[in-house]
Amino acid sequence: MKIAIASDHGGFKLKQELIEHFKRQNITLCDLGTKSEESCDYPDIAAVMAHNILQKESDLGILICGTGIGISIAANRFKGIRAAILYDDFCAEMAKKHNNANVIVFGGRTMSLSDVIKRIDIFLQTEFEGGRHSLRIAKIEQGD
Ligand code: RB5
Repeated sequence: MKIAIASDHGGFKLKQELIEHFKRQNITLCDLGTKSEESCDYPDIAAVMAHNILQKESDLGILICGTGIGISIAANRFKGIRAAILYDDFCAEMAKKHNNANVIVFGGRTMSLSDVIKRIDIFLQTEFEGGRHSLRIAKIEQGD
């Protein structure tokens, strides 16, 4: 599975820590930026990630801003993106099981590295249930 990661400046430190963590497990995350703690705009980062996922360059995206809120709002404006903030372990499971999220989102200023690693592991180990949840996702894709 190909996993891409991107953050604004508010999530930069956590992004770098996650890249290092997964590197130790021989998993390379595709780093889509930002490249430093210099201020940048999270909608631009969300757009880069959305295009990457929609063009099937990666199977899963990890997005991080200060709270996870702005960057998830921005990512979810792209048709076909299902970005979910994994704000606890239960939501990490449900975001896969029921929502089949293709982007998972964290807050660099609100979540600890260990909590985030645990939630990513839970998400990756969970299967999408399909069935009625597929129908609901299809309704999201239909839009208005
Ligand atoms: C940037 O200061 C901050 O607003 C951003 O990282 C994010 O938390 C927005 O929702």
